[in-house]
Formats: sequence, structure tokens, C-alpha cells
Amino acid sequence: MTLIDAGPTGSLRVAPSILAADFGSLANAVHEIDAETDWLHVDVMDGHFVPNVSIGPPVVASLRRYSTRFFDCHLMMSEPGRYLEAFAQAGADGCTVHVEVGATASLIRDARALGLRVGLAANPDTPFDKVAPFLGEIDLLLLMTVFPGFGGQSFMEDVMTKVSAARREVDVQSLPVDIEVDGGIDLNTAPVAVRAGANVLVAGSAIFSRPAPLEAAHSLRAAAEAGRRR
Ligand code: DX5
Ligand code: ZN
Repeated sequence: MTLIDAGPTGSLRVAPSILAADFGSLANAVHEIDAETDWLHVDVMDGHFVPNVSIGPPVVASLRRYSTRFFDCHLMMSEPGRYLEAFAQAGADGCTVHVEVGATASLIRDARALGLRVGLAANPDTPFDKVAPFLGEIDLLLLMTVFPGFGGQSFMEDVMTKVSAARREVDVQSLPVDIEVDGGIDLNTAPVAVRAGANVLVAGSAIFSRPAPLEAAHSLRAAAEAGRRR
């Protein structure tokens, strides 16, 4: 059951990724940046789809008590279907599955049936053609600007061609789909991504690795808004 509204589709949103926060003090980290958080981005890594392990439904359930923001759960998992219900019950508002794992149509159906907002993600080397057929069925397209698995990597600018293609398609068909970018988003790259057509910006290191995360998130939003006006 989706309890928290995602906000107007297509509007600019900042989604801090807690992957870069201090896991020993997550509630504080989330609280500290709350005023600049549109969505809270939760990176779930299974040690199989990606070579790293992060967090799962119990952490989402605990954090749910400390935040009223939209929980945007990015499932970097080979078998996300086994866990969708657990994430929904834990308090996820949206779940994003990767197109590379296959069974996309049924994963989208299952997530929808659970009342989740539905996202589909593509790795940097996955062509737009692979996600295009699902645009009418999803709420969010996540175009990775790094290979998933780790925070703190460099933004891959060549993914912007795909972002622009997605934005064109979403606009031409007037689809209610947000376009999210994730990986290496900072003050320099946020405006680049926004100009290409992204409207949801995930940022981990650029927020939580800064001495003042709230101010960093504020500056990121300002940089993105400036990019949008250009
Ligand atoms: C990468 C994750 C990202 C990551 C972004 O696998 O999906 O959400 O936290 O981190 P930064 O912003 O540090 O690149
Ligand atoms: Zn992510």
C-alpha cells in the first residue's frame, strides 16, 4: 500500500541516497537532511546482481518510523520478485527493479498489485530499446549513470544520450513517467542531467560525504534548478 505521495510527475526532485550515510546513525542522517529530501533513495544490493551487499526490508521498516518522505527503493537484486512484498510491508513507497534481470512484465505487475509505485532501471550499457516497451507500464525510469554496486563513482556523461531519448519519448507520448539518474550526481553533473531531461536526482556522496549534508542537498537542488532554467 503506497501511503506517501510521490509528488507531481516530472517535477524536479532530490533523492538523497542513504548508501553514503553513516549506517550506525541512519535515523540521524535521514533526519538531518529531511528538509531537502523529496524522496529518500534506498539502495538494496544482494551481493549477486551487484558485487556488494547493503540493506534490506528490516532497515526500511526501522527508518519508516523516522521519516515521512517517499521511500524510493532501488533493488539491485537478481530476484527482486522474492522481496517486493517484504519491501511493501516494510514501508517502501516505490520499488525499482532492473531490466537486466528479466521477467520485467511480471515484476511490474507484481509491484503494481502490491500498491507500489513502479520503477524500471537500466545499467549504463543497457540500450534504451530494452526499457522503451515498458514505458507505458511504469512510473519511473531509472537510468544509471554509473555501474551499480558502489557509491562514489564518476558520472558517465555518455548516458545523457539515453536520458534525452527517454525524455523525448515520455514527452511525445505524454506519459506520466519520472526520469531518474543515479551515480556521480554532484553540483557539476546535476545540471547536465537535468538539461538532458532527468527530473529525479539521486545523490549519495555529494550529500552525505559533505561536512554539512543539508546545505549540500540545498546547493544540489539550486544547481539542478539553474540547469533546468537554461
Ligand atoms: C550505486 C547506487 C547509487 C549510489 C550513488 O550503485 O545505486 O544510488 O548510492 O552514490 P553516489 O551519489 O555517491 O554516486
Ligand atoms: Zn541507487
